[in-house]
Amino acid sequence: MTEAPSSAAPWREPLARARHAHDKAGLEDYLQLATIRPDGTPANRTVVFRGFLEHPDRLLCAADTRSEKVEQLHRNPAVELCWYFPRSREQFRVRGTATVIEAGHPDAAMLVTRDTVWLGLSGSVRVQFAWPDPGGLREDPAVFDIPAPAKASPPAEFCLIVVEPERVDHLQLRPFPHERHVYERDGAGVWAVTAVNP
Ligand SMILES: Cc1cc2nc3c(=O)[nH]c(=O)nc-3n(C[C@H](O)[C@H](O)[C@H](O)COP(=O)(O)O)c2cc1C
Repeated sequence: MTEAPSSAAPWREPLARARHAHDKAGLEDYLQLATIRPDGTPANRTVVFRGFLEHPDRLLCAADTRSEKVEQLHRNPAVELCWYFPRSREQFRVRGTATVIEAGHPDAAMLVTRDTVWLGLSGSVRVQFAWPDPGGLREDPAVFDIPAPAKASPPAEFCLIVVEPERVDHLQLRPFPHERHVYERDGAGVWAVTAVNP
């Protein structure tokens, strides 16, 4: 089990437990990422959780810079992640702010993290970043029959989405009555937890 570091935010421990309980299904890394379109309507999609960054606690996802979600994040970095673990019947809703890490980002450490995540991707995921524009009119199948970009360095189309949480709403359906805890981070980065009605 990947345990939360002892210095981590208090919601990391219940999240680590839920992910571990879910392990055998192999679906513990899929979650939904909601963003806001320029016209104010919500957009939501499934993404793969790619790990944590520490101090402060942040969550990583990978995306294509040409995708709508990235354009939406550049206009409005407000996001909510939603994670449901059917085995333990727990939901985590993570509200926060996203930063997009693309080639040329000024933070060198974040670019190293981008390289590391790219290195961990399989060829069948890497090749998607060389496919034609996501969301464009369907192109000839031959256009997709190309080799995956090398592991050595990520292409410009590859970016990380780094989510810094501000509020985590943890709902547990197994206990009856259900339990719900809200974790909130203050301006100094200190987390407080409140038990609320489910
Ligand atoms: C199981 C699953 C995992 C996915 N993982 C990712 C991912 O990690 N990153 C990503 O950008 N899209 C991922 N997708 C595709 C997105 O859900 C979405 O269709 C695509 O990114 C286009 O979204 P957008 O137009 O809102 O940007 C995944 C889809 C599924 C069904």
